[in-house]
Amino acid sequence: VKIALTGISGLLGLNAAVALRQRHSIAGAFFDHAVDVEGVACERLDVGDRDAVASWLDRVRPDLVLHTAGLTDVEGCEANPQLAARLNTAAAAHVAAAAREAGAQLLHMSTDHLFDGHAAAYREDQTPSPINVYAATKLDAEGAVLDAHPEALLIRTNFYGWGHPRRRSFSDWIVGSLRSRTPLRMFHDVYFTPILVNDLIDVMLDLARTAPPGIYNVAGGERLSKYDFAMKLAERFDLDTSLITSASVDTFAFRARRPRDMSLDTTKAAAIVGRPMPGVTEGLQRLRQLEGDGLPAALAAAFGQPAAPRRDDH
Ligand SMILES: NC(=O)c1ccc[n+]([C@@H]2O[C@H](COP(=O)([O-])OP(=O)(O)OC[C@H]3O[C@@H](n4cnc5c(N)ncnc54)[C@H](OP(=O)(O)O)[C@@H]3O)[C@@H](O)[C@H]2O)c1
Repeated sequence: VKIALTGISGLLGLNAAVALRQRHSIAGAFFDHAVDVEGVACERLDVGDRDAVASWLDRVRPDLVLHTAGLTDVEGCEANPQLAARLNTAAAAHVAAAAREAGAQLLHMSTDHLFDGHAAAYREDQTPSPINVYAATKLDAEGAVLDAHPEALLIRTNFYGWGHPRRRSFSDWIVGSLRSRTPLRMFHDVYFTPILVNDLIDVMLDLARTAPPGIYNVAGGERLSKYDFAMKLAERFDLDTSLITSASVDTFAFRARRPRDMSLDTTKAAAIVGRPMPGVTEGLQRLRQLEGDGLPAALAAAFGQPAAPRRDDH
């Protein structure tokens, strides 16, 4: 499959490029952070520029577009709503229109952040109620994508995994802090259903082959608090759990309001791919395995970094 990938320098984008480059032909686009991924054609592209997006996809002529680029910093979106609207909503509309024009299937990345968090295990057919700018621009993006490309698949998710020198993930932050013996305060009153990014990529590719158009929750099979996630991660990596203390989200002065519960119901996607979404235990096991396999070093190599030690076992 010929895949055009926006946001190749991001957390999901780079993992997707490295995971898929052996089996597929990939053209990737970055913006501020140039990457050089072996076997992948990478170039600079501003996804907020409609003509540039159209000409890129017209040139690449992909079978599938995976649109991961955007402004994902929730506090940054709140501080700069115009930029958030340009990068999250307008860009998604440009990519969707150009993908349709090029005759390509589209996987558009949405989020678990769309609801107010007063309920749990949100289904795809529940009405979103965004409580911050990031969520509002991502919800607007869903509408714009469906208008421009009615055959698109919209993926709502929340993921962790190995990041890279320009983008640390939630799990990188926990592992890195605990390995350097830095204490962590984690929210016991914010719930989510995280999925390992590599599992997310596998499920999305399966959906792209078989699923009818529409919205799909592709998240982990287990709802838990951020505190419980950190504890499980520490245990799986044999790190010191006593460095983690629990805290309420109310004790942090964020600019953006945050939903207390972002958990998603994944029944719909699981039925299409024929398997349940992996739980945290399975995800963390694979996360550790991937470190042993050298994935962090392979990701860092895209930025010309020297290969990092393969594993810090202690
Ligand atoms: N991380 C999560 O858990 C999570 C949860 C829910 C939904 N999502 C969604 O999943 C997608 C991927 O998230 P992520 O965490 O992988 O994102 P990320 O690491 O923050 O990466 C964002 C990407 O967007 C690119 N970008 C920014 N401005 C651009 C521009 N003007 N033109 C072209 N590219 C631009 C960045 O490129 P440069 O760095 O080169 O500028 C980077 O590659 C997003 O749509 C996000 O909303 C993520």
